[in-house]
Amino acid sequence: MQKRYHVTTFGCQMNEHDSERMKGMLESLGYSEAPERAEADLILFNTCSIRESADSRFIAHLGEAKRLKVEHPDRLIGVGGCWAQSVKEEVFERFPFVDVAFGPGQVHKLAEFLTSDSLTAQGYFEFEGFTGHLPARRARQFQGWMQISVGCNCACSYCIVPATRGREVSRPMHELVAEAQAMAADGVREVTLLGQNVNSYGRDLPAIGAAANGAAAASRPTFARLLAEIDAIDAIERIRYTSPHPKDMREDVIRAHAELASVCEHIHLPLQSGSSRILKAMRRTYDRRRYMERVAMIREHVPDVALTTDIIVGFPGETEEDFAQTLEVAEEVRYDAAFTFIFSPRRGTEAAAIGEGLVAHPVKVERMQRLLEVVQRGARERAQRFVGRTLDVLVEGASRTDPERLRGRTRHNKVVNFSGLATPGEITQVRVDSATSQTLAGQELLLARAGA
Ligand code: SAH
Ligand code: SF4
Ligand code: F3S
Repeated sequence: MQKRYHVTTFGCQMNEHDSERMKGMLESLGYSEAPERAEADLILFNTCSIRESADSRFIAHLGEAKRLKVEHPDRLIGVGGCWAQSVKEEVFERFPFVDVAFGPGQVHKLAEFLTSDSLTAQGYFEFEGFTGHLPARRARQFQGWMQISVGCNCACSYCIVPATRGREVSRPMHELVAEAQAMAADGVREVTLLGQNVNSYGRDLPAIGAAANGAAAASRPTFARLLAEIDAIDAIERIRYTSPHPKDMREDVIRAHAELASVCEHIHLPLQSGSSRILKAMRRTYDRRRYMERVAMIREHVPDVALTTDIIVGFPGETEEDFAQTLEVAEEVRYDAAFTFIFSPRRGTEAAAIGEGLVAHPVKVERMQRLLEVVQRGARERAQRFVGRTLDVLVEGASRTDPERLRGRTRHNKVVNFSGLATPGEITQVRVDSATSQTLAGQELLLARAGA
């Protein structure tokens, strides 16, 4: 009988991408997807370790997998991703029922394990492969991820990612363009470029494009050039990327948003803190002034851009004065959306050694609430600029709250719930009638006209 797998994914979009590749690889080995974990012969977890909450959520799920393994001992249990990488062989000591564990750079080794006769537990933790080379099984036909680089050369003092994903390595540009062309031929209309620091793409690659006689100088591939190459593919109508680092957010990339038709009017620009003192302790390598200069340059070239961000509260040593500066920046920028996190000490990081207790937990919680208020007010106000406008919406499916309505995304990455007749994958025009901090609501233009 055909073997069945079940994958549970935690963490960021890079993990979503990696899970699609795991699925593609398993299907090429003859496995099919089981709808429920209890029905699977191979139970996989693609883990995240960015904050403590990510670890504990995963451990709770692993408990269920253990019970299922006791019921059927020939079931295989695999743990991949960042948490696995951060604990390595310790996985097997702490969870002896796990059969195979692998880091984000070793997804391909899962196939080797499954096709070998080995009955002993195996761990694979080198940094060597791009999951982007593996076959993919996309969740939606019309949206695709593209892994442009792996790893991160930054040294943000709170962050575990450099330890779990290794040094930054970019994929060659011609390979990425070919992958985007193949996706386009396969029905993809929106591509999201993924990397821990997408705009440092290419710095580790050799120069390309020199004329044979040396007349034109060779140049290193850059992120802006990659955007232009993908924009040139006709069928791809939307290009998104995540995440850029503010220190590398140069004018060429900002101009790409203004000049290239498929590059969307949305930039995620992680702030982390509005205090230059804390930014320094975080080793972010920019200060408040430089961050605000980048925001100004973005708004100058792309006035209608949607700006989103990540902010950490309660970093060790953050004073009320430091936090007040974060609030000020949030007020000044007025983000379209912000992801806010309470600092979580991660094993092996510099900030964990400084000490979590430096800001008391109730203080962190209270700061978080104050920040959320500012962020949500800003987002609600910003969203009002869309009311009355007609926007292009890529339809994703039925609305989550009302199955009679549709759900899609604008180029600004705003979710829109609307009444209409369009089908998933279509880009249609929607007249926006109302807006909250999170979502827009409206009517497909055809219907709005018919009703008028
Ligand atoms: N490479 C990306 C994403 C990093 S992880 C970037 O640099 O933007 C996503 C977010 O998680 C970070 O931007 C940060 O805000 C948050 N984060 C990372 N480590 C954290 C920690 N130890 N505690 C709390 N939040 C953290
Ligand atoms: Fe982590 Fe900083 Fe790298 Fe982002 S840029 S992955 S926060 S070390
Ligand atoms: Fe988590 Fe790894 Fe992504 S730690 S956020 S899955 S890079």
